[in-house]
Amino acid sequence: MTADELRTKYINFFVSKGHAQIQGKSLLPENDPTVLFTTAGMHPLVPYLLGQEHPAGSRLTDYQKCIRTGDIDCVGDSSHLTFFEMLGNWSLGDYFKEEAIQMSFEFLTSPQWLNIPVEKLGVTVFEGEGEVARDEESAGVWKKLGISRIAYLPREDNWWGPAGTTGPCGPDTEMFYYVGDELCGPDCKPGCSCGKWMEIWNDVFMQYNKNAAGSYEPLSRKCVDTGMGIERTITVLNGKSSVYQTEIFTPVINSIESAFGGKYGQDSEKDFSIRIIADHVRSAAFILGDPKAVTPSNVGAGYVLRRLIRRAVRHGRKLAPEGIKLSPIADVVVKQYSGTYPELEQNRAFIIGELEKEEAKFMETLQKGEHEFEKLLPNLLKDPRKIMSGRLAFKLYDTYGFPIELTEELAAEQGMKVNKEEFDEAFQKHQELSRSQGGSFKGGLGDQGEMAVKYHTATHLLHKALRTVLGEHVAQKGSNITAERLRFDFAHDAPMTAQQIKEVTDIVNAQIEKDLPVFMETMSLDEAKASGAIALFGEKYESVVKVFTIGNSTTDFFSKEVCGGPHVEKTGGLGKFTIQKEQSSSAGVRRIRAVLN
Ligand code: ALA
Repeated sequence: MTADELRTKYINFFVSKGHAQIQGKSLLPENDPTVLFTTAGMHPLVPYLLGQEHPAGSRLTDYQKCIRTGDIDCVGDSSHLTFFEMLGNWSLGDYFKEEAIQMSFEFLTSPQWLNIPVEKLGVTVFEGEGEVARDEESAGVWKKLGISRIAYLPREDNWWGPAGTTGPCGPDTEMFYYVGDELCGPDCKPGCSCGKWMEIWNDVFMQYNKNAAGSYEPLSRKCVDTGMGIERTITVLNGKSSVYQTEIFTPVINSIESAFGGKYGQDSEKDFSIRIIADHVRSAAFILGDPKAVTPSNVGAGYVLRRLIRRAVRHGRKLAPEGIKLSPIADVVVKQYSGTYPELEQNRAFIIGELEKEEAKFMETLQKGEHEFEKLLPNLLKDPRKIMSGRLAFKLYDTYGFPIELTEELAAEQGMKVNKEEFDEAFQKHQELSRSQGGSFKGGLGDQGEMAVKYHTATHLLHKALRTVLGEHVAQKGSNITAERLRFDFAHDAPMTAQQIKEVTDIVNAQIEKDLPVFMETMSLDEAKASGAIALFGEKYESVVKVFTIGNSTTDFFSKEVCGGPHVEKTGGLGKFTIQKEQSSSAGVRRIRAVLN
């Protein structure tokens, strides 16, 4: 079965069960500047899982492009990918455990659908904790359907969500396919450390909202959120044990083979590099091909993109001394997926152009950086603890633009570790310094449209002004910025009066006139909240977040928000702020369009 066939079958099956097919969304989430990528099919559906009505009804299905970078260090193994497609079906207060499991089982095993032999399947269910009982209900449904391999596992395995620090979550039941021939022993169960159980699908029973205080409030209506990984499912359906052995990766791997004139499957080190390149170029093509594409930069999603491209370039040099060109590989991805994601073909020239630019930039950096590392090496090797100082690593970064990840890789090749704490310290000190000297935030502004950056800062001013005039219930529901205007969606029940619009406008313009500095700090989300920063509800944050403060200092401020940036250094250059439109966006949500002149 091909990925195209699986996608169609899945949607058809759930449509036949009364689900409405909805459009998957952009890889770059619209509703939150602090989340880098869409990480799961449920991500764009968070407001609905929390209780909002969905216009398409209470049963939904779709396929969604996803990027997960949390597992980036596992990429290169048989099943972890940075880009993948997720198939999903949702019940918004409609069916719950029994029906969800029955449908999953039918789709997996029915000859009309995936026709997987029941004995190849195993499932896990939540073993219970505190007030949440052991999930005998799900286990009972599975048993009745004929599944005998059922493992009860703790929270770290069988609880999904929230996608961020707050939001919908609950116990889940995960479906596994055994990719080996014989179980490793009598106790071999789904989730066993033999690694032969490949997780292909997850049914999450969304019953709680984890709130900002960290406690779990029962949801007003229980929901189901499921996610089936296309790449893994295609792997098992075709009797393979690695995603790279499937038709999904064949075209990409073939193009890598012809780029270096070798074959996959002949040299384990080269194979690893081929897998990294295949994964990373695929992700880069999808990020650059997205309607809301970012370009390689040193901040946020742009930085992830830069890292993916640069790591692929570096592995290309392991296949051939002069490296391999990535754009023809990306072109293969474009051809392969344009039927399903037409935006790839539409943005083909952009994808290729940006890749080529970034490759050229990095080649230069690499040559310089590696040369410098080699010069340092004789001295480094004298250290009996095999630790490279963070200051040296920072010097490579600062002087030659050599990324810390690559310094770590080069060091690891010599059996050494980099003192990362020391590096981070040097990095932060440097940022503070460049700010107090009035320099730009490292790497940010050059790559982003200057106007967009101004609008980004203006959005923070607007957000705070709205909370000042309308009240603290004003929460950001969406933000969209172009070089021409900002758009801001926020929770508020009534149209704003002319007086309120004037007050908000005046407050924003007053902050601009004060020419306030913008400070950036990094800290944990809890620290950020404790310091008075606004963080968005129900969104995914990295463990260390950036906090932008607009004010006299980081303690005496007008606005403080968790955000990925970038922002201007001082508000004085923003120009005159005008609200052009204030209208309804959806139930309980207002939308403002504003410009800077
Ligand atoms: N949201 C669930 C997951 O990503 C289905 O596994």
